[in-house]
Amino acid sequence: MAQLSNKVAIITGAAGGIGQAIATLFARKGAKLILVDRDEKGLAELAAKIGPHECSSCVADMSNPEDVERATKLAVAQYGRLDILMSNAGIEGQVTPLTEYPIEAFDRVMSVNVRGVWLSLRAAMPVMQRSGGGSIVITSSIAGLRGFAGLSAYATSKHAVVGLMRCAAIEGAAHGIRVNTIHPSPIETRMMRAIEEGAAPGAASAAKADFCTQIPAGRYGTPEEVAAVGLFLASDESVFCSGGLYSVDGAMSAG
Ligand SMILES: NC(=O)c1ccc[n+]([C@@H]2O[C@H](COP(=O)([O-])OP(=O)(O)OC[C@H]3O[C@@H](n4cnc5c(N)ncnc54)[C@H](O)[C@@H]3O)[C@@H](O)[C@H]2O)c1
Repeated sequence: MAQLSNKVAIITGAAGGIGQAIATLFARKGAKLILVDRDEKGLAELAAKIGPHECSSCVADMSNPEDVERATKLAVAQYGRLDILMSNAGIEGQVTPLTEYPIEAFDRVMSVNVRGVWLSLRAAMPVMQRSGGGSIVITSSIAGLRGFAGLSAYATSKHAVVGLMRCAAIEGAAHGIRVNTIHPSPIETRMMRAIEEGAAPGAASAAKADFCTQIPAGRYGTPEEVAAVGLFLASDESVFCSGGLYSVDGAMSAG
């Protein structure tokens, strides 16, 4: 039997680089998926690749409570239960020194990366409880473990979800709900292209080379390498893992 047979998973930020890798892998492992993103076109392309019997799509802004409720209810309407939440949608914000960081830009990052994740857990946990338990995986970041110049909003948000994960893991334990964070280093997606360009306008490849020197493995990770850790945490193979932080970073956080 496939690792995620009979499981229903919501994946937020599904149209992005890491989200697509998670969705593709989870579908291959037998899960039924609710794909959630604000990017309608990206969602439609992904859903066409995965196939209508394995997934449903929901265009939603995860910082909006009504949208989050709608996405969560779709899991029950379509498949009758919810076993897995991959709370993965996120934005990088700007690369700007803290003292010059626009307040509105800070608020936007917090609204998607913290409030959005909090809303997604708040909506999913009661549904999971009625389904007999489940697994929640929040995509934090290496920036949830250490600081980076210019990324004060992003790093603040990615640290904040560790606190959220810990509270939810404690509250969820009695209901069979496990909650963990994953902490990728730079990964080959659109987001790193934006951060490289923000760090060194017009010299993104030099910024990438500089990031790579900070990663003992000497390279960025791939979305598939992040998805593999997500699969372990989502599946019953990690049944006693909750409240934990999982690095996927080529030893970047070891130094
Ligand atoms: N790429 C990296 O290097 C890296 C490293 C560590 C952590 N992460 C985290 O991984 C997650 C996925 O990032 P990615 O690299 O795939 O980036 P990405 O930009 O390719 O994907 C992010 C996705 O989230 C969606 N999204 C953004 N705001 C949303 C909102 N309000 N409502 C619904 N959807 C929204 C975007 O449309 C996009 O499809 C993010 O949380 C990111 O912070 C990425």
